[in-house]
Amino acid sequence: MRRGGESPFSPPQAGRVSWRGIMGEAVRFERVTKIYSNLAGRPVARALAGVSFAVKPGEIFSLLGPNGAGKSTIIKIIAGVVEPTSGYVKVGGFDMSRDRRRAQSRLGVVLGDSRAVYWRLTVKENLEYFGILRNPVGIRALREQADYLLQLLGLYDMRHRPAGELSRGMRQKLACAVALLGEPNVILMDEPTAGLDVQATKSLTEFLRLIAREKGKAIIMRPLIFPSGCQVFCLAVVMLGLFTCRLYLS
Ligand SMILES: Nc1ncnc2c1ncn2[C@@H]1O[C@H](COP(=O)(O)OP(=O)(O)O)[C@@H](O)[C@H]1O
Ligand SMILES: [Mg+2]
Repeated sequence: MRRGGESPFSPPQAGRVSWRGIMGEAVRFERVTKIYSNLAGRPVARALAGVSFAVKPGEIFSLLGPNGAGKSTIIKIIAGVVEPTSGYVKVGGFDMSRDRRRAQSRLGVVLGDSRAVYWRLTVKENLEYFGILRNPVGIRALREQADYLLQLLGLYDMRHRPAGELSRGMRQKLACAVALLGEPNVILMDEPTAGLDVQATKSLTEFLRLIAREKGKAIIMRPLIFPSGCQVFCLAVVMLGLFTCRLYLS
């Protein structure tokens, strides 16, 4: 660990002009429809009925809506794990269907219902494994970031335990740490704080707010209660697969 609580993450960039697409859009979601089908190919649910929006670098874009509105489908389509029926998604200017590898390399993702980590690997091994896969910053910086995130989320003392021995909330913390490692430009979090304790929720929230504001990271997630003073916070309301409004709060 570095001394004095110094962050191992890169310093804030003046003018937020460090990555492709940063002058424009972090995510472009364009006229997306999604119809889920069963194994026989018969449509079973219309999840999205033509949704369009863009998220800029530095924005925290919150998806709000009742169960079944299509929030998780939006996040999975941006992550590239669910194919849209029509429409397209770009991340950092790269089309998810045509340039998947480059689009996904910009992303850090927590999917609420996934087993995102390897249960047999320890907490630390998981972070190193996923960090090396993504690795834009080098192994030493990755290790320092991993330690920093584990401390931030209150998981540092568990670092030598296999992920399979963690509680659900602790595994969720690990999934969040994995998503934030390597400083992805776009962070997608579907219910990241489900199962997280109050302190970890608060630390994660503060950290996300900081990296959005100071480093121009774009964050798409479920609404969080932000402490006062939040600068960039967009709330999108999704109803029955339709995007109904976008509110700007501060
Ligand atoms: N894998 C799936 N197969 C079939 N239908 C699905 C699948 N995933 C989601 N759906 C349906 O799509 C709609 C939107 O779901 P979802 O995106 O999970 O909503 P939310 O996250 O807002 O609760 C719901 O009607 C849901 O039943
Ligand atoms: Mg959901």
